[in-house]
Amino acid sequence: MTRPRVLVTRNIPAVGIDRIRRFADVDLWDSPSPPPRQQLLRRAHGCHGLLTLLSDQIDAELFDAAGDQLRVVSNYAVGFNNIDIGEAARRGIRVGNTPDVLTDATADLAVALLLAAARRLREGLDRVRDGRWKGWEPTDMLGQDLAGKTLGIVGLGRIGMAVAQRLVDGWKMRVLYTARHEKPEAADRWGARRVPLQQLLADSDFVSIHTDLNEQTAGLFDASAFAQMKRSAVLVNTSRGQLVDQGALHHALTSGQIFAAALDVTDPEPLPHDHPLVALDNCLIVPHIGSATGAARDGMARIAADNLIAGIRGEPLPCAVV
Ligand code: DGY
Repeated sequence: MTRPRVLVTRNIPAVGIDRIRRFADVDLWDSPSPPPRQQLLRRAHGCHGLLTLLSDQIDAELFDAAGDQLRVVSNYAVGFNNIDIGEAARRGIRVGNTPDVLTDATADLAVALLLAAARRLREGLDRVRDGRWKGWEPTDMLGQDLAGKTLGIVGLGRIGMAVAQRLVDGWKMRVLYTARHEKPEAADRWGARRVPLQQLLADSDFVSIHTDLNEQTAGLFDASAFAQMKRSAVLVNTSRGQLVDQGALHHALTSGQIFAAALDVTDPEPLPHDHPLVALDNCLIVPHIGSATGAARDGMARIAADNLIAGIRGEPLPCAVV
């Protein structure tokens, strides 16, 4: 083959883009915002590989626009709900993702959010910044304790395991989880129990979402899920915004159905600053920064570049989805 052509839909760390440039002619969409759909379709045309982000919708229309020479889509993310995997598989297009390298960074953020929501940090910071701090009060700004409480992990995969490890080591929490399969290592390490979602919701003091987004899990946290949770419960979501019905969450937070929520992910992203959730004292929202450390993002860039190159060469991808 002459030098392959690839489209990279956002500037990724040098360690990845330099590797790709040594191998292929790169069309880099060098902007802080995703390429508009028409640009994506036009620029994909004639490419052998696409390096995409979770904000790029990769589907049959895009595959048609790219053409038959397209061999691989390398997603710069562990999640791949933005890609029509069935369609890629039907066309023999390989798909890669970037697991493992972001596990610690994302688990750290989940724990940070859990602590922040439990101890009302958002409200406290706002109070100091707005000049509303009146003095030390015995019954003011009371939050939730962590020690010995029950942690419910929805989706005990790599990141869920890393979150559980931190909270068992640090706060001796008891762990309940949902997962497609039993995780014997979680039972061995922490006495963790796999339970139905309803039981997890009813028994957990902290619920952390780590399941992937698909047709079965979209809107999993709806009004009936919140109705089953403890009034003292804290919800953390570092997975995908679409797992939570945000209208139902707003109701749960304003009616006292749950104590607080902390979200790294929303629907849509970015969430408009005048969205009703943004105004709530007991809802802390950060802009999808779970994997935002230098080491994690460099690791993702390396794997994404290796997946892209391997796919174009027709070799097995280091981290393959299909
Ligand atoms: C992912 O990798 O899926 C995250 O959401 C972004 O790091």
